Amino acid sequence: MEQTFSIIKPDAVKRNLIGHINQIIEAAGLNVIASKKMYLTKQQAEIFYSAHKERPFFDSLVSYMTSGPVQVQVLEGGEAVSTYRKIMGATNPEEAEEGTIRKLYAESIEANSVHGSDSSENAKIEINFFFAGSELV
Ligand code: CMP
Repeated sequence: MEQTFSIIKPDAVKRNLIGHINQIIEAAGLNVIASKKMYLTKQQAEIFYSAHKERPFFDSLVSYMTSGPVQVQVLEGGEAVSTYRKIMGATNPEEAEEGTIRKLYAESIEANSVHGSDSSENAKIEINFFFAGSELV
């Protein structure tokens, strides 16, 4: 069993897609073991995406991620990191495979509906950033 971290981003929350996205997640065999809706502060968004701070899209990304509520979640299952990345699809929805969350719902490369950890190591860091151990059930 592996855990990964997911954010349902402001564009998807705004369009009432949390249930649709979680249906795809659960159909892939992943369990949602923690979930909460919140507004990211500017500081949280800057720290969370600090790996991208030199990229030209960083300021716009932080502003987008704080533009409305997000749903932060922990997913658990066999090979959760790679399973979730597969069903999310490519970062750029124009390159995402048919049937993936981003192909179905993303509006743009920035407003791409979901985030998922890129490794098990980063999943642990991202989960700890948003959740206490006692919240994972
Ligand atoms: P995410 O998987 O959360 O990781 C970084 C985020 O930056 C990405 O999804 C997008 O929301 C955003 N982003 C905006 N522009 C780009 C870009 N050109 N390349 C990669 N990510 C981008």
